Amino acid sequence: MVETFSPDWLDLREPADARARDGALAAALVSLLPPRPKLIDLGAGTGSLFRWLAPRIRGPQAWTLVDADASLIERAFDTIAGRVLQVGFRISAPSKRVLLVHAPMGAWRVEGLIADLADTPDWLPDREADAVVCSALLDLVSQDWLEDFADVLAVPFYAALSVDGRDRFWPPDRRDAMVAQGFRRDQVRDKGFVGPALGAAAGHAAARAFAARGFAVHTARSPWRLGAAEPALLAQLVAGHAAAAALATPHRFRPILGWGTERQLQARRGRLRATIGHLDLLALPPTGD
Ligand SMILES: C[S@@+](CC[C@H](N)C(=O)[O-])C[C@H]1O[C@@H](n2cnc3c(N)ncnc32)[C@H](O)[C@@H]1O
Repeated sequence: MVETFSPDWLDLREPADARARDGALAAALVSLLPPRPKLIDLGAGTGSLFRWLAPRIRGPQAWTLVDADASLIERAFDTIAGRVLQVGFRISAPSKRVLLVHAPMGAWRVEGLIADLADTPDWLPDREADAVVCSALLDLVSQDWLEDFADVLAVPFYAALSVDGRDRFWPPDRRDAMVAQGFRRDQVRDKGFVGPALGAAAGHAAARAFAARGFAVHTARSPWRLGAAEPALLAQLVAGHAAAAALATPHRFRPILGWGTERQLQARRGRLRATIGHLDLLALPPTGD
């Protein structure tokens, strides 16, 4: 069963994601891409990574946004079109599934592909790509999926914002550790990739899997640092932590609910700060010389 995500949550986190991704790692990827690169974005959601990375690539480029949720891809197209018009670029839509952004530095082709990523290792070798990218996806996948994926990948792989478990909330609360324990347990439930999800272990597990196959692996920390300027994101974040923790440890439902209610109040009053740990990864295939 595919894990579902609300488009409003993905939109709400976009600015924090954009600030957190490590620019140097992305620049290293961009420097290795050929002219007119083709990129496949796995679990593209509402297109946040495209909007962040395409302007860094600048010139003509072609993206395939892959997601199981057709409504998210639809929202991605709408949001891309809206933002493009805001900055004064032209757009056209040669078909229902393709959007062409006529950026001054060249055309950006965006195609939507509705597919279950559980099958990615089967179809990936047949698709032409200069890089495979993803953002906030790897912590959902299982170790077996990761191994199969690493076996078939022959191009650079860029995976931004895999959670790493280094989460802290201020001011401290006596229930923080209990909620964190439940939340971490929920993170490793099967999220549709045939086996327990890697959760906070994803970034390092990916680094090991690709290094074992001769890839040059680079990583960088990319935490969210949230404070009074992001009350809505913080409130949603703690609501999500509380809901996941309560699901994983239902016998602690009441204290977890109490934690969630108090933390949301602090967030709305601008009295909550949080660091949410992530790891960005760039894996470059062996050159063969
Ligand atoms: C945390 S969201 C990240 C979305 C986007 N990359 C971003 O950074 O905003 C994970 C995305 O993976 C997609 N997803 C999860 N499991 C999937 C699966 N088995 N097949 C296809 N897409 C999947 C979800 O629909 C969602 O869009």
